[in-house]
Amino acid sequence: MPTILVLPDAEALASAAADFIRQAASEAIAARGRFAVALTGGSSPGATYKLLAQTPPGQENWGKWEVFLGDDRFVPADDDRSNYGQARTLLLGKVPIPAGQIHPIDTGASSPDAAARHYAETLAQVLQPEAGKLPIFDLVLLGLGEDGHCASLFPHMATLAVTDRWVVSSPPGTLPPPVDRVTLTYPVLNAARQVLFLVNGEKKAVPVRDILEGRATREVHPAAGVQPVDGTLTWMLDKDAAKLLHSS
Ligand code: 6PG
Repeated sequence: MPTILVLPDAEALASAAADFIRQAASEAIAARGRFAVALTGGSSPGATYKLLAQTPPGQENWGKWEVFLGDDRFVPADDDRSNYGQARTLLLGKVPIPAGQIHPIDTGASSPDAAARHYAETLAQVLQPEAGKLPIFDLVLLGLGEDGHCASLFPHMATLAVTDRWVVSSPPGTLPPPVDRVTLTYPVLNAARQVLFLVNGEKKAVPVRDILEGRATREVHPAAGVQPVDGTLTWMLDKDAAKLLHSS
């Protein structure tokens, strides 16, 4: 069962999310000496990234972060639609994470497929899973699309059924921007130690209700397929996103 946290507004949500991420980083670093995190794109995490960039000096542990993207649009990093570009502007370019510990998806590759293959190699090199096992993130951040998608796993697409690859390309979804994508697959998302969904706004209220009240299949609302096998799942919502939940 996921933990569901409802915050009064988007500001409180960002603040709670930044605290959650700092806590996850401290715990991972204390336990394993580093923090492997997959960031998300979309508009929802922007305020959280800004707050993280303002982490007070005494609490900083940037030197131990290994930063990845859960998905990206196949556009250059300086394109406004780039998830990595957004994370770099709001967070990664403002804190002293060593450059070699930031791992964007290579959207300069010859094709989205080539970028996906290359990113799987990066996961293997940096996260060093045991032979035959999946790479394990300490924390995966995800947003929720109005259509129930997460990362770049879109409703009814073949990517939902992939179990033999860690990273795949995806054609554009039905929501903008209409560009090809590269995304982690369910097996990797579900191998994470912690997954945190950040969701705000009334437009998300229907998929939030359908997913959290068990009315949605992952074919219709792909975020319903994010169910960490051994890890924890937390949904942080603002009041507007939570407004159709019976328990809220
Ligand atoms: C992307 C994402 C995507 C996003 C949701 C929510 O590249 O678009 O990573 O999965 O998280 O679409 O986006 P918003 O926060 O903009 O609603």
